[in-house]
Amino acid sequence: MTMHIQGVLDPEELRRCRATLAGAPWLDGRATAGDQSARAKRNLQAAEGSPEVAAAGELVLRALGRNAGFMSAALPLRVYPPLFNRYGEGMSFGDHVDNAIRTSPVSGQSYRTDLSATLFLSDPGDYDGGELVIGEGAFAARVKLAAGDVVLYPTTSVHRVEPVTRGERWASFFWVQSLVADPGQRTLLRDLDRAIGAAREGLGDEHPAAVSLVGAYHNLVRMWAQP
Ligand code: NI
Repeated sequence: MTMHIQGVLDPEELRRCRATLAGAPWLDGRATAGDQSARAKRNLQAAEGSPEVAAAGELVLRALGRNAGFMSAALPLRVYPPLFNRYGEGMSFGDHVDNAIRTSPVSGQSYRTDLSATLFLSDPGDYDGGELVIGEGAFAARVKLAAGDVVLYPTTSVHRVEPVTRGERWASFFWVQSLVADPGQRTLLRDLDRAIGAAREGLGDEHPAAVSLVGAYHNLVRMWAQP
């Protein structure tokens, strides 16, 4: 399931993030691509391991940690240290599927990529093109979000970034290894979590139905989580 999470970064965090990244060394994005995707990738990427990427990545991770919508949808076991890219005029990234396992060259930690995320850092009015297209054919989603918003989608999806035809598109991207690997189970937990929120609101936390639903949620996580 593809999810839109609004306002992950506030305007001040966006400003700090972009100012930090402006001073980072920017490299050819093919440095981090797999074999097939390297052939399709035309963009710039802030150097992984640079202090600027570490600082901007920390800012993004803190914002994700306090975002209830992200936590509920992703059930993160660990989040790959966020990376940052830029597409200028004529740059694009053709259809590809992200690698199943990513190993951070900085920490040496490996991650199973259950979910992919793009955090938009540019205002949609600042560039033309640059849509993130998730899926194939008539049912593909064309995603272009407000600066500060995140799209979260299963890493099993084919996706691409359309050519930018005006301006510059800046974004952060990262992967989540979820506690719950199965996308169907994860979606069910997210739906149950939403329903619990409504039930607690309507019935109050003391109501036996609310207590029972919260218990069922935690017991399902216990059954399915792979920590
Ligand atoms: Ni990708």
